Amino acid sequence: MPVLDDLDLDVPAGGYVALAGASGAGKTTLLALLGGLERVQSGSLSVGEYDVAALTGDDLAAYRRLTVGFVFQHFGLLDALTAVENVELAAVLAGERPSQRRERARALLDAVGMTPRASHRPGALSGGERQRVAIARALVNRPRLVLADEPTGNLDEDTSVEVLRLLESLQTERGCTLLVVTHDRALARRAEHVVTLDHGRTR
Ligand SMILES: Nc1ncnc2c1ncn2[C@@H]1O[C@H](COP(=O)(O)OP(=O)(O)OP(=O)(O)O)[C@@H](O)[C@H]1O
Ligand SMILES: [Mg+2]
Repeated sequence: MPVLDDLDLDVPAGGYVALAGASGAGKTTLLALLGGLERVQSGSLSVGEYDVAALTGDDLAAYRRLTVGFVFQHFGLLDALTAVENVELAAVLAGERPSQRRERARALLDAVGMTPRASHRPGALSGGERQRVAIARALVNRPRLVLADEPTGNLDEDTSVEVLRLLESLQTERGCTLLVVTHDRALARRAEHVVTLDHGRTR
């Protein structure tokens, strides 16, 4: 079954794009393709100088680890690890040296206002706090592309705005490209561009 078909989308480097569209329109699929989690069956897909559609094996794994940061609706933190360990783990997987990765994890937790909760496990954090930790984790390897799939889907209105503001300020500071899937029109309008997917095509 074709999910994305005849899709033509160009996101400027360093841009901030909101991705909207009905359930089943293909938003998560598009993020999975951009993040190298799924493969395109035809067509081209590139991120910066990476021809993502052509990457395989270790190159694809390295692309995922180093170029892309993911933020999910359900946070995706590991329950057995503390906040700082969750952030650090992403840097472990990227092969960062122990002293550097701990320092970087702490600096990022600080940037998302989570220093006082650094040694708490996710079970002892609120939804908004978990998402802030997840944002720190997404950024720890200095990705050029941050993909957030309904990052505020499990949060109340005020916390949603707070979490999105945080993502936006980190994006501005670091100059990465930010793609946010959201069902909330008011939140989508915060982006520089809103792209609406309709049955796998841009509308
Ligand atoms: N692994 C898969 N294999 C086959 N079809 C899939 C797979 N994942 C998703 N689909 C189908 O692709 C279409 C798009 O799904 P996708 O998850 O990208 O939608 P979405 O826009 O993110 O929806 P939602 O807003 O509900 O999260 C749906 O029809 C879905 O059934
Ligand atoms: Mg989805």
